[in-house]
Amino acid sequence: MSGIASSPVDPFAPDFLMDPYPAYAALRAHGPVFELERYGVWAMAGYAEVEPALKDWKAFISGEGVGLHGMNPALPRPLTLQIDPPDHDKGRRVLGRTLSPGVARKLRETFQQEAEKKVTELIDKGTFDAVTDLAEAYPMKVFPDAIGIRPDGREKLLAWSTFVFNSFGPENEILAASRKEGLAAQSWIMECCARDALRPDSLGMMIYQAADEGEITEHEATHLVRPFLTAGIDTTVNGIGNTLLALATHPDEYRKLHHKPELARNAFEEGLRYDSPVQTFFRTTSRDVEIAGGVIPAHRKVLLFMASANRDPARWDGPDRFDVERVATGHVGFGAGIHACVGQMIARLEGELIFGELARRVRTIELTAEPKRRLNNSLRGLESMPVRVTAA
Ligand code: HEM
Repeated sequence: MSGIASSPVDPFAPDFLMDPYPAYAALRAHGPVFELERYGVWAMAGYAEVEPALKDWKAFISGEGVGLHGMNPALPRPLTLQIDPPDHDKGRRVLGRTLSPGVARKLRETFQQEAEKKVTELIDKGTFDAVTDLAEAYPMKVFPDAIGIRPDGREKLLAWSTFVFNSFGPENEILAASRKEGLAAQSWIMECCARDALRPDSLGMMIYQAADEGEITEHEATHLVRPFLTAGIDTTVNGIGNTLLALATHPDEYRKLHHKPELARNAFEEGLRYDSPVQTFFRTTSRDVEIAGGVIPAHRKVLLFMASANRDPARWDGPDRFDVERVATGHVGFGAGIHACVGQMIARLEGELIFGELARRVRTIELTAEPKRRLNNSLRGLESMPVRVTAA
């Protein structure tokens, strides 16, 4: 593409990942599309480009992988994230039914009881690590319970998804450091996805019912339970963790939420916009794509900076301000178009209930030490966040 800007920036380097937002602003200034010369890929960082590209599944395909490298032909063919229509639609339909608003309504009561228990325990403690004791502990209890998997060994879920999300990026040290533990968890994950391992009245079993009815094969059912465990845990953990950090560092915003707990769902949505758990995904051009007066040739990888689109001043008023009352609808933290997050109802339910319960019962949340980042090639999240809370 002639006249296109080229950037030497490495968006997978530790210093970039530590605080990507100033770098995103610089990347957006390159214009609608630019090249990342280190990886020889194209990239977009503005909302006006990222959102339509996510929706244009014909030109920007997922079937050649949503990571930097193509699909590994030795692995089983995926059934949702990294597949294009028409093959994408069957798995998506089954997952969509399993994760529907109706199902979310049924889960509400149990998720609420667990939120109450968790907040009681945290108020009793007073000081705790908001990552391990809250952002990880709550989703790691309610969601795998709903899927119907056993209680022991759940720490392997995080090791596995950390590795999977790292592998969407380059072969760097961050990926290497997560490989051993991630691969060690793989067989446990697959065991959990088997029919015999699931509780009868669970979401996981609803997938097998689709196999019983002949909609999908037994083998496909196993591989449709797996995305629950890969995509549904670390994302929500980081969504809750990042929103909590934003609340702890914006006491005025927390005060608003405390006085109006019904803002909890909105505050979580704003948290997903302000500090998105999933920062980037790749697409591949299926054909020459005309954009901003130039052409991205066919079969090129394009990195979509979704978290940057969510901070684009051309789309958002004061994008770097965390505002629990903002209408954050339209953010691309859950993606957009046919691959938009199929678990978003469940994620929102978890966010609404845990922040609602905190808002009602906790007067203040303050950091007692610097939080530590956990760097990942695609996810943004924390390793630890020591906090003190005072009861309302
Ligand atoms: C897709 C983010 C929670 C399952 C996606 C995508 C994003 C995303 C950005 C789009 C991927 C793309 O366009 O290539 C998030 C965030 C979450 C979350 C930020 C929590 C705050 C969940 C949960 C589940 C889940 C709880 C499972 C219950 C999936 C699946 C897809 C997906 C299966 C692939 C959908 C498809 O390709 O049709 N998610 N997710 N996610 N998510 Fe989520």
